[in-house]
Amino acid sequence: MADTALKAKPKETSIQTGISRAGTDAIADELCNALADSFSLYLKTLGVHWNVVGSNFFGLHKLTEAQYEDLQTAIDAIAERIRALGHIAPAAFGDFTKRSVVESKTTLASVEAMLTALVKDNEAVARRLRKAVSVADEADDVFTADMLTARIGKHEENVWMLKAVSA
Ligand SMILES: [Fe+2]
Repeated sequence: MADTALKAKPKETSIQTGISRAGTDAIADELCNALADSFSLYLKTLGVHWNVVGSNFFGLHKLTEAQYEDLQTAIDAIAERIRALGHIAPAAFGDFTKRSVVESKTTLASVEAMLTALVKDNEAVARRLRKAVSVADEADDVFTADMLTARIGKHEENVWMLKAVSA
C-alpha cells in the first residue's frame, strides 16, 4: 500500500490520459518500490565497484561501473514517472529501507559475498518488477509497463554477466 503521506492531491496532479486515479495510485506504489530497489541496488553495486579486490579486479570494477551507471539513469526515470503520475518520489534512506527487497544493512567485505549478493538482488528485483508490470498493464499504463519491462531485461542481463565474470 502506498504511504498516504506520499499521495499528492488529485486536483494538482491528475493526468487525463486514460489511466484511472486508482490505477495511478497502484502504479505509483509499485514504482516507489522499484525506485527503492533500484536505489538500494545502485548503492550496493557502487560498493562492489569500490571494494572489489583480486585477480579479476579490473573486469569486476568495469562491469559494476556499467551497472551502477545504468541504475543511476533508471532511478531518475522511475522517479520522474512517479511524478508524472502525480505522486511524490521517495528520496530518503528510511523510505528505501522500508520498501526495498535489496538487503543493505552492512557493507560486504568478501568478493564472493559481494557477487553472490548482487546476483541474488538482481534476481529479486527482476521478480518484483514482474508484478509491477502486471499492475501497470492492468491499468493500461503502457508507458510504465514498457519502461519496467526493459528494466527486467537489464537485471536479467546483470545476472548473466555477474555469473559469467565470476565463473
Ligand atoms: Fe569509479
